[in-house]
Amino acid sequence: MSIQELYFMHHGLMLPKETHSQESLTYFAQQFTFKGDDAIAVTYPKSGTVWMQEILPLVLNGGDLTPIQTIPNWDRVPWLEEKRLKVVVDQLPSPRALVTHFPYELMPQSFFSSKAKVIYVMRNPKDVAVSSYYFHQMATFLEDPGTWEEFIDKFLEGRVMFGKWTNHVKSWRHTELGDRIMYITYEQMIQDLPAALRLMSDFLGKNLSDEVIEKISSHCSFKSMQANIMSNFTLVPKIYMNSDKSQFLRKGVVGDWKNHFSSKQLAHFSSVIYKELEA
Ligand code: A3P
Repeated sequence: MSIQELYFMHHGLMLPKETHSQESLTYFAQQFTFKGDDAIAVTYPKSGTVWMQEILPLVLNGGDLTPIQTIPNWDRVPWLEEKRLKVVVDQLPSPRALVTHFPYELMPQSFFSSKAKVIYVMRNPKDVAVSSYYFHQMATFLEDPGTWEEFIDKFLEGRVMFGKWTNHVKSWRHTELGDRIMYITYEQMIQDLPAALRLMSDFLGKNLSDEVIEKISSHCSFKSMQANIMSNFTLVPKIYMNSDKSQFLRKGVVGDWKNHFSSKQLAHFSSVIYKELEA
């Protein structure tokens, strides 16, 4: 399918038609109301969103596994900008766990006037690009990525859903949110998940015991999530996500970029990213 058939533009961002609609965006912008105890994970795609959809409910409910064992991730912790939000919003328990790929400036007024808290998860853009490349191969509602060489250009030029990685990171870097926002990296979570969970739970005002942190950490490991049909996307029909091409929970490691970038590609990629981050 052509780019025009797959995506539509929203404030300069390419959004997939399969999962987003003008109606869902208008609902989010005009009708959805944030609550003071909402916890929102913000990510650029392929930075650990689904991981946060596993973590947040468990941190907020003190380690009760019911939501991660009974509700698919997309309804358990809905994307604010997607079509499913309106369908599930009334069933979300409080405090609510939410996710978004939106840049800061596209958050609605109700967000800015609330006390909702944000956990911004950032991942090395080289690993994001690799993960995205495989995701474009399996997700039939996204453009075919072409070759890796071609995809690097698409990624750097922002010709992918939600636009440029650098714009996303920059938009959330300097905010007026004060102590309503915390930053964590995918790499920190890989290195020491219990420590990352402790930081998140403290930030969200949840005083969890070491035992509960360990329990959450074990259920949010890559292996556990790969085995969880409520989180591994195997419930999605193959016509939308073709697991023969790639798994959604693919490798879950830091540094897979080393298996993909040539030294020339690496130099080009790094110089574009650094230049844009400094601008
Ligand atoms: P890879 O493709 O590198 O494996 P998102 O949810 O934002 O789309 O990000 C998907 C990426 O996060 C995939 O990366 C996926 O494997 C990884 N991921 C999801 N859950 C994870 C976990 N528990 N541990 C490590 N990585 C995880």
